Amino acid sequence: MAIKLFTNIGTLVGADRSPAPVKAGCEMNRIAVINNAWMAVEDDRIMDFGSMYELPTRTFGSLCHTTDLYGQWIFPSFCDSHTHIVYAGERTGEFIDKINGLSYEEIAARGGGILNSADLLHDTTEDELFEQAMERVNEMIGKGTGALEIKSGYGLTTADELKMLRVIRRIREATPLSVKATFLGAHAVGRQYAGRQTEYVDLICREMIPEVGTQKLADYVDVFCDTGFFTVEDTDRILNAAAKWGLKPKIHANELGVSGGVQVGVRHSAVSVDHLERTGVEEIEVLKNSPTMPTMLPGASFFLGMPYGNAWGFINAGLPVALASDYNPGSSPSGDMRFVAALGCIKMKLTPEQAWNAVTLNGAAAMELSQSTGTITPGKKANFFTTVPLPSLAFPLYAYTTPVISHIWLEGEKIV
Ligand code: NIG
Ligand code: FE
Repeated sequence: MAIKLFTNIGTLVGADRSPAPVKAGCEMNRIAVINNAWMAVEDDRIMDFGSMYELPTRTFGSLCHTTDLYGQWIFPSFCDSHTHIVYAGERTGEFIDKINGLSYEEIAARGGGILNSADLLHDTTEDELFEQAMERVNEMIGKGTGALEIKSGYGLTTADELKMLRVIRRIREATPLSVKATFLGAHAVGRQYAGRQTEYVDLICREMIPEVGTQKLADYVDVFCDTGFFTVEDTDRILNAAAKWGLKPKIHANELGVSGGVQVGVRHSAVSVDHLERTGVEEIEVLKNSPTMPTMLPGASFFLGMPYGNAWGFINAGLPVALASDYNPGSSPSGDMRFVAALGCIKMKLTPEQAWNAVTLNGAAAMELSQSTGTITPGKKANFFTTVPLPSLAFPLYAYTTPVISHIWLEGEKIV
């Protein structure tokens, strides 16, 4: 057994011996920190931590290496619970269209958007798709992400959806990241089914889901339940079909309209309902006493000029909030979780403590991973990043482009 000891940590952020699985309501404003700390890692797990003052009284059996951090800080890795990073090429053409005044919905209605990515993906081999996705994965690792969820949804045929899910499985096998896979066949109606949405939903329920289930290619099912995309009825059918294969829902809801997506998600005990740019009191009420994590994606609000989620409304009602990147080619071409947390502070008026909890522990909970990651806790994965010495917890979110990350550790190994 190999033990690595880190000493003279300026501040150890998120150090919690028995964290709750989720931080909700006023708890979101609390994050445990230890100034002038040490931390020990045993193999791929966090072993223990404490204050430097007590270190001389500790003994470590088979210490292999001590790293003096000289005041650098340690943060738990980001947990990004909503991404679409398996896609082919990019969509800068639509970026220009948006600059020239077209909306996301107008581009989609013209047959662009998600369908554009589906065409590109169809013409891209599985190996090439993996290579392209791995570039994004490596970028995200470098920016501090240690756990992520990845969705299909640019296939829109059975063969291409399965191709995407196999690429996600390869990413899980090829990296030290914790990866959850979500089947999102209901991201848009595939081109061959234009004007025949009900038949496309039939295809999802009768062919795609049983295939995904048989091959055990996904942990979750998602539906883009929103204006111009899938209805509550479509969503209900898809979630019922997926439940037979043990696929729990994570739903795209209330991005473009007040879609009813939150309600249908909660009815099906969704792990999370995501986006939530347009919600009212009903959505907050229905989420109370549910296990469903409200997840907001401020990167999409920023990129598309949409309203930001009403995080404070949810927190004041005693609910938790997670923030995720939504990294995708159409509405959020960035997987930088530090920027996501900064938007949480700057645009949603979250405190830095709330924002850090939203991108770590609550993100982990939105992927059912909070037993193994999201805080610095003995027994959890040794997934963390170090930063240069900082004046405060707020600094990386305030000076949001200043490079502060020095090294990345995943499963106890130094990656960067
Ligand atoms: O979460 N809203 C639906 N899906 C993505 C956008 C996908 C795309 O435009 O390629 C999102 O914003
Ligand atoms: Fe999304």
